[in-house]
Amino acid sequence: MSDYELMKLAESAREKSYSPYSGYSVGAALLCRDGCVYTGCNIECSTFSPTNCAERTAIFKAVSEGKRDFEKIAVCGGRHNEQSRECTPCGVCRQVMCEFCTPDFKILLGTSDDIRTYTLAELLPFSFSKEEL
Ligand code: THU
Repeated sequence: MSDYELMKLAESAREKSYSPYSGYSVGAALLCRDGCVYTGCNIECSTFSPTNCAERTAIFKAVSEGKRDFEKIAVCGGRHNEQSRECTPCGVCRQVMCEFCTPDFKILLGTSDDIRTYTLAELLPFSFSKEEL
């Protein structure tokens, strides 16, 4: 699947965002090496801390379906009613990516018209991983 197609799926997933408190909606689309795609959106809660980011929604959906081999993820986000712009994964999501993905895992940010590609190693250098334990 192309980067463009994966970002398009992230943009569709963003429409499902439940984010009444921040007013900031995020979508993600995760491509597994077997070709399956899992999408996610951010899901907020009135008590705030249970809020789940779009990236973790997608990754946890995939892992809970038995998938652990991931190729790339597309992420888009922005304030409600604004065109999606670059939304970089939060630290918690980067650490969850580190749990399941290799350093060359591709992270696509921006919009389907303007995709910027990073690796997990670039976004989470000097990471603490399970190899340390
Ligand atoms: N959010 C994500 O879903 N992913 C990110 O990478 C950054 C932030 C969500 C969490 C919260 O619902 C809203 O964006 C504002 O922080």
